[in-house]
Amino acid sequence: MDRKVIIAGNWKMNKTAAEGKALVEALKGLVADVCPSKADIVVCPPFTTIAAVAEAIKGSNIKLGAQNIHWAASGAFTGEIAADMLKELGVEYVIIGHSERRQYFGETDETVNKRVKAALAAGFKPIVCIGEMLEERESGKTEKVLFTQLEGGLAGLTKEDMANVVIAYEPVWAIGTGKTATPELAEETHNFIRMTLNDMFGKEVGEGVRIQYGGSMKAENAKELVAQRNIDGGLIGGAALKADSFAALVHNA
Ligand code: G3P
Repeated sequence: MDRKVIIAGNWKMNKTAAEGKALVEALKGLVADVCPSKADIVVCPPFTTIAAVAEAIKGSNIKLGAQNIHWAASGAFTGEIAADMLKELGVEYVIIGHSERRQYFGETDETVNKRVKAALAAGFKPIVCIGEMLEERESGKTEKVLFTQLEGGLAGLTKEDMANVVIAYEPVWAIGTGKTATPELAEETHNFIRMTLNDMFGKEVGEGVRIQYGGSMKAENAKELVAQRNIDGGLIGGAALKADSFAALVHNA
C-alpha cells in the first residue's frame, strides 16, 4: 500500500516565538519544491511559539503540530492545553505520549489513550509515540513493551479513527544520543508494529497507518531509513532545529 511520507519536527522546549518565526521563514523557501501530495512536512513548536509560526507558514506546504493536548475541554488543569486553544491556531497534528512525557511527567498508556481520544474527537491527527528503553531492548522485552503501549494507547479506537492516527516509533536509547537504530533493526521493529496494528484493526487498516521512525534521524541517514518498507517518515528532534538541516532531511527522505 502507498503511504504518504510524513516528516515532522518536534522542537521540544526550544525556540521563542521570534526564533520559531525565523526558522520557518527560512524553511519555507527551502522546501517549497516538495509536492504536498508526496509528503507531509510538519513543525511542532512549543505552545507559545505556535501562533507566530502559524502566521509565517500561511500559504506554504508546511503544516502545524503541537506537542501535547489535554482530554478535558477546559478547567482546572494548570500547565495543560485544550483542543480549542490549538484549533484556533490552525494546529493539525498533535504529538502524544512522547517518551520524555512518559519519563519525566508521569504520562501513562492510560493518559495517552485519553489524550488520543480527545485529539481525534476534536479533529486532530495524533502522532502517538511508542518506544523501548535500552535495558528493555537488551533484555529482549522490546516487543512486549511496544505491544503494551499500542494496546493501551489505542484502546477503544475505531478503524475509522485509525485513518487519522500516525505512530512514531522512537527507541528511547536513540533519542538525542546520535545512536540511530540501523535501518534493518528499525524495519524489523516497524514490521512488528505493523503486524500488531493489523491484528488490532485488520490488515486493511493496519497497512494504511503511517509509522514514523524517531531517534537521531538526520539528512545523512534519512534516505536509507525511509526506504524501508514499513518506515513512512520521521519524527525529528535535533535536526529539526535548523532550517537547512531539516530541509536537507526532508529532501533525502
Ligand atoms: O521526537 C523526536 C525525538 O525524540 C528524536 O529526537 O534529537 O534524536 O532527533 P532526536
